[in-house]
Amino acid sequence: MVSRIKTNVFYTGDNVKLMKTMPLDCVDMVCTSPPYGAIREYKGYSFNYKETIYQLSRVLKSGGIVVWIVGDETVDGSESGESFKQALWFMKMGFYLHDTMIYLKDGFRFPETVRYHQVFEYMFVFSKDKPKTFNPIKDRRCAYAGSLAAARNHRNKDGTLTGNSAYKKQNNKRRSDYGTRYNVWEYSTGGCHSSQDKIAFDHPAIFPEQLAHDHIVSWSNHGDLVLDPFVGSGTVAKMAWLSGRQFIGMDVSKEYIDGICVPRLKMCGWPKAPHQPPKDLCRSKKVEKDYPLKIFR
Ligand SMILES: C[S@@+](CC[C@H](N)C(=O)[O-])C[C@H]1O[C@@H](n2cnc3c(N)ncnc32)[C@H](O)[C@@H]1O
Repeated sequence: MVSRIKTNVFYTGDNVKLMKTMPLDCVDMVCTSPPYGAIREYKGYSFNYKETIYQLSRVLKSGGIVVWIVGDETVDGSESGESFKQALWFMKMGFYLHDTMIYLKDGFRFPETVRYHQVFEYMFVFSKDKPKTFNPIKDRRCAYAGSLAAARNHRNKDGTLTGNSAYKKQNNKRRSDYGTRYNVWEYSTGGCHSSQDKIAFDHPAIFPEQLAHDHIVSWSNHGDLVLDPFVGSGTVAKMAWLSGRQFIGMDVSKEYIDGICVPRLKMCGWPKAPHQPPKDLCRSKKVEKDYPLKIFR
């Protein structure tokens, strides 16, 4: 039972039942990845996305963000479309679809023979009302660094161009070396890329630590409460902890919580003071070269 908010803890159980015991408007940010259809069995556990989304809408503060990372399984020759169904349900429940981002992997796991290789997942960013926090990561090397920024024109509905006042202010300013990154994020995945923690790979479907970190620092502030209702191997909990946020992690599997999350978090100082984050979180070599990690280094 969660009722009085205790943070920096894991709960074992069905997340809908657990979230029902939480007060309204207590979570600043959710970062999570639910099971993708029947791609993995997770020891027979299932979830009802409508009930989960309803509980998320209840526990999230106004201005809070849900990052929902999903892909589709293929059933009888067709992608299931579950990702879209879930996204539309979030909107029906009153969330804004703030951004549809892409998690690009630097390779594919299973070669496709009748279509192009699958190398991405969706990262739907939903907000409950207007987002209260956005700390953009500015690590995209600017191709025109140092050059003079020119005022841009705005294209009107009838096709004519007029000066754009927002850009006029930038006129004659030098462009900086780094700009805000785009909304397609590329990471290296798989053994020892997503995490250096060998124990994490006892879970069959982890996402990269760096991905969790990048969302957490973008959409929450120091001290905020980050919830992962499908915490799996504890990736979001670990990165929230190392980034000075509070966390709540939930998973229906006791084996994952007791066997992976708890020992994994202990390796980084939990439940005492957070250790320094590791310096060698892996991304693809291309990304590493183009977008050097500024947050951690
Ligand atoms: C895709 S995995 C999450 C992996 C995680 N992002 C990581 O990096 O380790 C989904 C998780 O949801 C859990 N799960 C499935 N149904 C659940 C439910 N009803 N309530 C809580 N957890 C559930 C599964 O046990 C599984 O660990």
